[in-house]
Amino acid sequence: MEKNIVLLPGDGIGPEVVGQAVRVLEAAASAAGASLNFTERLLGGCSIDRFGTAMTDETLADCQKADAVLLGAVGGPKWDDPQAKVRPEQGLLGLRKGLSVFANLRPVRVHPALVSASPLKPERLAGVDLIVVRELTGGLYFGQPKGRQMVDGHEQAVDTLVYTDEEIRRVVRLAFRFAQQRRKKVTSVDKANVLESSRLWRKVAVEVAAEFPDVALEHMLVDTASMRLVSSPAAIDVLVTENMFGDILTDEASVLAGSMGMLPSASLGEGGAGLYEPIHGSAPDIAGKGIANPLGTILSTALLLRYSLNLPEAAARIEAAVDRVISDGLRTVDLGGSLSSKQMTDEVLARLN
Ligand code: IPM
Ligand code: MG
Repeated sequence: MEKNIVLLPGDGIGPEVVGQAVRVLEAAASAAGASLNFTERLLGGCSIDRFGTAMTDETLADCQKADAVLLGAVGGPKWDDPQAKVRPEQGLLGLRKGLSVFANLRPVRVHPALVSASPLKPERLAGVDLIVVRELTGGLYFGQPKGRQMVDGHEQAVDTLVYTDEEIRRVVRLAFRFAQQRRKKVTSVDKANVLESSRLWRKVAVEVAAEFPDVALEHMLVDTASMRLVSSPAAIDVLVTENMFGDILTDEASVLAGSMGMLPSASLGEGGAGLYEPIHGSAPDIAGKGIANPLGTILSTALLLRYSLNLPEAAARIEAAVDRVISDGLRTVDLGGSLSSKQMTDEVLARLN
């Protein structure tokens, strides 16, 4: 089996973590009899520097043709001018939209050996195993109108939160399908006491729930959800929500796992290439030092093997190897250790089989 993977290392620590994760991906895939062709492209700030745009049409076209895309991170102080017309994030958002990956899966598990790395009390962390399904191609991030205008002598800025029933249905359905394979509970998060888009979200969630009689649905307001995520996270199985709510809640959820550097993500649509990336950013403060935690990206390659290449055993092998390095007490700097990105990756590779 031969598969095409586009690598988008991006900015900051992106190239470092992608470079390491690819070693693990290649080893796991080849052990499973798959051979991978890698094509590297620019995305984000590095693409702005080279081409004047955060993502070229050619890069998007290459990603659309690929079986899967592995992304590091985009952005950094160099491109942070709020007046700038081109921003690294445009590349990421354009890529998500261009690949139609409407569902962003962010699984959060707490390794028992990392309980002490989290600021939460250990008893709250016992049994945490949840997935956030974040809607990724609609909502506040993409709604029109969007922009600035002068109104009665004042500068006004507009963002629009808009969803169609179909956009809600497809992502909520996906959340229910995941819940069926898990603890059979979906927590749909909205702000239905205030927002019209949330009232539609809730209505559609109820309709979808009727298709899945074996899965329980609960609704939760987003402010309550932000509290429950830290006060009783083990009660959550699959949490599904609007794009921006999901952005915020997943940063919060990353605290459960001890470090943002640990968490992977998969962005999926209906068929087509999946997009895989760690949930952390480009971490300009440590970029170039070779000390970034590669595990979030390595775990993202496991998701890539599972969801885009249909190699669940290879995926599980990577996840088990990562579990073992953590159990063995190996740590990068973010978790209070001293291993470099490469040393950590060597340790994962050594435990792969
Ligand atoms: C994320 C990031 C992005 C987002 C930024 C970089 C645009 O925070 O993937 O969570 O908001 O989606
Ligand atoms: Mg975010």
